Amino acid sequence: KKRYNIALLPGDGIGPEVISVAKNVLQKAGSLEGLEFDFQEMPVGGAALDLVGVPMPEETFTAAKQSDAILLGAIGGYKWDKNEKHLRPEMALFYLRRDLKVFANLRPATVLPQLVDASTLKKEVAEGVDMMIVRELTGGIYFGEPRGIKINENGEEVGISTEIYAAHEIDRIARVAFETARKRRGKLCSVDKANVLDASILWRKRVTALASEYPDVELSHMYVDNAAMQLIRDPKQFDTIVTNNIFGDILSDEASMITGSIGMLPSASLGESGPGLFEPIHGSAPDIAGQDKANPLATILSAAMLLKYGLGEEKAAKRIEDAVVDALNKGFRTGDIYSPGNKLVGCKEMGEEVLKSVESKVPAT
Ligand code: NAD
Ligand code: IPM
Ligand code: MN
Repeated sequence: KKRYNIALLPGDGIGPEVISVAKNVLQKAGSLEGLEFDFQEMPVGGAALDLVGVPMPEETFTAAKQSDAILLGAIGGYKWDKNEKHLRPEMALFYLRRDLKVFANLRPATVLPQLVDASTLKKEVAEGVDMMIVRELTGGIYFGEPRGIKINENGEEVGISTEIYAAHEIDRIARVAFETARKRRGKLCSVDKANVLDASILWRKRVTALASEYPDVELSHMYVDNAAMQLIRDPKQFDTIVTNNIFGDILSDEASMITGSIGMLPSASLGESGPGLFEPIHGSAPDIAGQDKANPLATILSAAMLLKYGLGEEKAAKRIEDAVVDALNKGFRTGDIYSPGNKLVGCKEMGEEVLKSVESKVPAT
């Protein structure tokens, strides 16, 4: 039997609800493939602030760093919104991503045939959409210096954030994107704002220079404002998208609605070595927290990405993906993806249905 150490970081809001469901699914799918997991559950974000006064306790980071893979729920909530910046729950995410050096954030957006009706776009626009957004995760305006709220020469407060990319940061994310596109439909669209931003001018130059190493990949460039529009106009034109930290954040939330709900989109954050970080793209959804209403599928699918990209356990990952489709085929829907004629269920029941679907499959040989 293969054993893996998994760090579970439930976090805040709906985080603990979706993590508890995803953990059971992960455990079951793994056990059917002869995998055993040692789960270590640690506080992060607001939960950690309440317990020990910091958003990213040393022990939590150590457990994460020493694990084989990390599954995170979500972080943040009204309660801590007025905290000073370094005591905001969200800082935990930055520390984790930066210190684990997980610069490549893969955010797939796929319209499942079962959920075409849940999309806010017309059926003919939404059906068949299948794209991968490759978001740079450890650089750009989230981390650039100078940063902070300072006093300028007129004695006035100024808020400063700096969009900055070094050549090597662009090259390494571009390589991940070219490799990703190569394994998909061979189309890569680099999204930037190279008509205005210097960081984007360098971005475009470096990505273009790398293209000759990937002759099998068709590279195009698009300004981010146009990309936001094109995603809604004709999302099927996209295969792989590569973009910076902040554009990737925004465009992936936009892309999620094409698939029916932000409650559907998983993500994988990977570095050159060390454990990967796997989390849904959504936040802690404080408006529905504690009501058993959250859609756990984004987190369940993140567990599938953990198996596939984090541990190389593709068979177990496939079991989870198939089970999600099976539960949807049976008509189970949480509120965010519900349409008339289906069966409305809560977070727990959706998790139980996916678990049943995992169990009902004959173990692959
Ligand atoms: P959000 O993603 O938490 O919620 C946006 C909307 O989507 C809400 O109406 C919510 O109910 C709904 N939603 C989100 N996930 C859902 C799910 N699984 N099932 C059903 N509905 C779902 O974004 P927000 O409201 O802007 O942010 C809330 C908090 O989460 C903030 O503190 C923010 O900083 C934080 N946040 C954290 C992460 C993260 O941990 N990676 C990501 C985004 C936002
Ligand atoms: C995400 C979130 C985070 C981000 C926030 C909460 C800091 O929106 O993971 O998409 O912007 O990266
Ligand atoms: Mn986001």
